[in-house]
Amino acid sequence: MGSRHILVTGGYGFIGSNFIRHMIASSEARITNLDKLTYAGNLENLRDLEGHPRYTFVKGDIADPADVAKAFSGQIDWVINFAAESHVDRSILDPDAFVKTNIYGTYLMLEEARRRGGEKFVQVSTDEVYGSLPAMGKFREDTPLSPNSPYSASKASADMLVMAYHRTFGLPAVITRCSNNYGPYQFPEKLIPLLVSNALDDRPLPIYGDGLNVRDWIHVEDHCAALALALAKGEPGRVYNVGAENERTNLEIVELILKVLDKPKTLITYVKDRPGHDRRYAIDNTRIKRELGFQVRVPFGRGMEETVRWYVDNRAWWEKIKTGEYLGYYEKWYGPGAYLKGT
Ligand code: NAD
Ligand code: DAU
Repeated sequence: MGSRHILVTGGYGFIGSNFIRHMIASSEARITNLDKLTYAGNLENLRDLEGHPRYTFVKGDIADPADVAKAFSGQIDWVINFAAESHVDRSILDPDAFVKTNIYGTYLMLEEARRRGGEKFVQVSTDEVYGSLPAMGKFREDTPLSPNSPYSASKASADMLVMAYHRTFGLPAVITRCSNNYGPYQFPEKLIPLLVSNALDDRPLPIYGDGLNVRDWIHVEDHCAALALALAKGEPGRVYNVGAENERTNLEIVELILKVLDKPKTLITYVKDRPGHDRRYAIDNTRIKRELGFQVRVPFGRGMEETVRWYVDNRAWWEKIKTGEYLGYYEKWYGPGAYLKGT
């Protein structure tokens, strides 16, 4: 990887911060992080890198041309675009920011990359662009896009722009589509940190519908390793699915968390289902294994145990988040008093 200069967007979020830490530790790369610091961006996520000689932060919006131009200044070798509105439920409440950041923001990033002559560009996409699977089958890279939420539709739109910039302008762009990540620093609106932090406070654990929706979980460290491979070795114009062959129902997840924390199943609370809720995701990761040498390294049992422990040991991190804006969102989505019940 040498001493490349990588422009990362959204590096103060969950996966972006894990990725930057991974790259600083495993390579000589210099990193510039362009992040707007939305509700999901958190300076605490990279406190340990403040002042590091190979790390620079630029506060800015990928949907603002001046901010994008500023972040691109100087010599950049690779670009990796994490910045996005990422929570499906918020996209149901208010899709506006999803269209602005995920579609228009990606467009501005592509435009600037093309104008400057075409740095290698990795678009961090999601398996949700494929829609929902029945009980059998897996998402392959040639599975037709069929997004069901405003979030996934915005990510699918961005993917199409990325491909168009490759085909029309020759931009050396690669798309990765990963399944559900878990690990440290995940914003506690997402299933696993939400359940762990609520359980630690003996609050209700909201499970949508019958709890039998299936997600294909991968540790964030494995996703970061896959992204590093896509940057270094991904073939321009190619899509790579990323997953760990690890399907679990939501009920399996909540029961595992309760077991690790030694909390009662009575905390499980069935709530109204998410509209348009995708039933099942499952990734066929053959291509990235075969072509880029990707290997899953974190076994789910160990990964989950360590992740739950991380939230136990870092209570101050999530307690600070679960205030103001977060509580407003929680009440709006789960209903009045939903967070306070059981206290
Ligand atoms: P996150 O919500 O934790 O973080 C998003 C980050 O982007 C935050 O730091 C936020 O401040 C920043 N951001 C948002 N809008 C911005 C803007 N307009 N300009 C600059 N920065 C902005 O998200 P995450 O879970 O880390 O996901 C990162 C990426 O990975 C997203 O593109 C998401 O679609 C994709 N992805 C996520 C998962 C998952 O399981 N979390 C799985 C596959 C793909
Ligand atoms: O598959 C990749 C995607 O994974 C990413 O693109 C998204 O950015 C990321 O948020 C995630 O989307 P999901 O919708 O799958 O994740 P979430 O954590 O919101 O939900 C996981 C499952 O748990 C899903 O079936 C919905 C269910 N759920 C979620 C919440 C927040 C509940 O049952 N109760 C809840 O309170």
